[in-house]
Amino acid sequence: MPVDKSYLTDETKSVRYWADLLGKDFGVAINSSATTNATQSAVTAAAFNTIVAEWEMKFANTEKTRNVFNYKEGDALYKFASENGMKLRGHCLVWHESVPSWVSSDGIKNDKNWTREELLKVLKNHIMNVAGHYKGKVYEWDVVNECLSNDQSIIKTNSSGYTMRNTVWYDVIGEDFLDSAFVWAHRADPDAKLYLNDYGNEKWSDAKSKAFLNLVKSMKRRGVPINGVGLQCHYNYNNLDSTEIANTVYEYKKLGLELKFTEIDLSMQNSQFYSDEQWEEQARTYRVLANICRLRPYVTGMLVWGLSDGQTWVNSTAAGTKGQPLLLNYFYGAKPGYEAIRRVFRDKVIDSGILSPSEERVARDNTVYDLTGKPRYVTDDPKSIYSLPKGLYIYNGQKYIVK
Ligand code: XIL
Repeated sequence: MPVDKSYLTDETKSVRYWADLLGKDFGVAINSSATTNATQSAVTAAAFNTIVAEWEMKFANTEKTRNVFNYKEGDALYKFASENGMKLRGHCLVWHESVPSWVSSDGIKNDKNWTREELLKVLKNHIMNVAGHYKGKVYEWDVVNECLSNDQSIIKTNSSGYTMRNTVWYDVIGEDFLDSAFVWAHRADPDAKLYLNDYGNEKWSDAKSKAFLNLVKSMKRRGVPINGVGLQCHYNYNNLDSTEIANTVYEYKKLGLELKFTEIDLSMQNSQFYSDEQWEEQARTYRVLANICRLRPYVTGMLVWGLSDGQTWVNSTAAGTKGQPLLLNYFYGAKPGYEAIRRVFRDKVIDSGILSPSEERVARDNTVYDLTGKPRYVTDDPKSIYSLPKGLYIYNGQKYIVK
C-alpha cells in the first residue's frame, strides 16, 4: 500500500474538508499527548474535524480522588480543538470501567458499601462538576456508556424487554441512575447534546440492538433528556451489512433522535500482511458507514477510535490476531478506507450543488474507478469508459455499466 499523505498539504484530499462542507462530524479519539506531538497534531487537524478523549475525560482520571477534579488533559484537548477549528466530544460521564478505586475496586462490586443515597450524591457531584466545567466547550456527551448486559436473551420472551448490566451504579442505585445522570448533565450544560452509547447495538438482527432500542424508548417515555444514541462499531473489517445497520438507524429516526457511529474500528485478522483486496474490503465496510451517514441528516457523524494503526486499543486486547483497524496506517498514510470516505462525502457535496462551478471542477478528479474502488485511468470524456472490459465503473459519482 503506498503511503499517501496528500491530505496534509491539499485540503481537498482530506475527509475533513468535505465533512465540514456537509456539516458532518468526522472525528477521532486521541490522548492529549497527541496535541504536543508535531506529527500527530498536524495529522489530527488535517484529517479530522472533531476529537474525543480516548481515556482522559473518564471518571478515573477526572476524579481519581473523591471531590478533587482534574481537567488538565481535557483542557489541553479543548485548547487544541479550538485552535484548530475542531469540535470536542465528551466521553464519558458514567461507565462501569474506568471507575476510581474509591468508588469500587472493579466498577461492579459495591465493596465500599455505598447506600443508594450516598452513591447518587457521588454521581451527581461528578456529573455537575465535569459537565459544568466543560459547559460550552464540549458540544456533546456520552452521558452513560455500555449500560446493557451482553446477554439479551430476554428479547425472546419479551419483545420490549432489555437487561441492564450489573455494575456498581445499577446494583446500588437501580435503573434510574440513568435518568438521573442525563438530568444532571442537562442541568450542568443545557446546550450540550446528550447521548447513550453502547456496542453490539449496530446490527438489527442482534438481540442487543433491539434491547438498546427498547431501553431508549423507555427513557423517552420517562421524559429523560436524551438527544441521541451512539453505535460504537467495533467490528471486523468484512463484517458489517448495510441493510442491517440501516434498519437499526431508521428506528432512531422514528424516535426523533440523532445518531452517530462513535468508536469505529474495523479489525483485520490473523496476519500482519494483507492483500490489496483485503484493504479494499475494509474500505468497503467504512464506505457502508459513510454512505449511511451521508444520506441521513439525523446521522450526525462518524468517529474512529484511534489516530492510526499504530495507536489502537485493538492491538492491546488481542495482540497478533487482530489489528490495523483504522483509517491511517502506521506512517499516517491514508488507507483505502480513508479515501473511500472522502469520495462518499465529496460526491455528496458535488451532488448537492453547494460548490461554485470552479470549485466543482477542482473537486471532480475525473478518475474512472472499477467496482473494487481501484482507479483505472483519468479522462475528461466518460464515453471512453465504454471501451473498457465488461463491468461496472464509477466516474464522478455516477455508475457506468459496460455490457
Ligand atoms: C478504551 C481505550 O481505547 C483504552 O485506551 C482504555 O484503556 C480503555 O478504554 N468502548 C469504549 C471506550 O467506550 O471508552 C473504550 O476505550 C473502548 C471500548
